[in-house]
Amino acid sequence: MFLDQDIAQVLVSQTQIEKETKRLAAEVSNDYKDKYPIVVGLLKGCIPFMSDLIKHLDFHLEMGFMDVSSYHGGTESTVDVKIEKDLSMPVKDRHILIAEDIVDSGRTLNAVINLLRSRGAKSIEVVTMLDKPEGRKIDYKPKYIGVSIPKVFVVGYGLDYQERYRNVPYVGILKPKVYET
Ligand code: XMP
Ligand code: MG
Repeated sequence: MFLDQDIAQVLVSQTQIEKETKRLAAEVSNDYKDKYPIVVGLLKGCIPFMSDLIKHLDFHLEMGFMDVSSYHGGTESTVDVKIEKDLSMPVKDRHILIAEDIVDSGRTLNAVINLLRSRGAKSIEVVTMLDKPEGRKIDYKPKYIGVSIPKVFVVGYGLDYQERYRNVPYVGILKPKVYET
């Protein structure tokens, strides 16, 4: 690919992503058979992962989307989440499975989980392709994790640098020259 030239190192290959996605889908399918959950994708990063995942989910589900941006102002432990786009359906008494590209500090998820809980969701779990456990500021462990990665900035498979590289089909580390231009 033309975009490959900006990538210094592939961290999670397409083959590995496919393998982990199928493994996660099997686990989730086993747990959600009779629950008719809403699978909630957090835009925009969830798109490639959620798209691949749901094709292997063998149970009835609804899809929902939210776009939230978090402002880490004030103290380290506070986060204000602005809802740019809200869910289009009620979550009261529904099982919720949040689909994320990556969990880093855990603040975004924490805010979204608190919000959905306050709306009366019956259960809330998270399936994430990537986890950066060393980045955690809030103690939270997603139930379903694809691949744990070290505390490095990655792009691809939904993850962006200044809105670019989301369409790269694997997860990689950018070359330093990209940040200079
Ligand atoms: P939290 O709230 O868990 O945020 O810190 C997770 C969100 O932070 C972004 N994020 C990244 N985006 N490369 C990216 O392109 C990364 O390495 C990275 N780490 C965190 C991402 O939007 C995620 O949803
Ligand atoms: Mg995100």
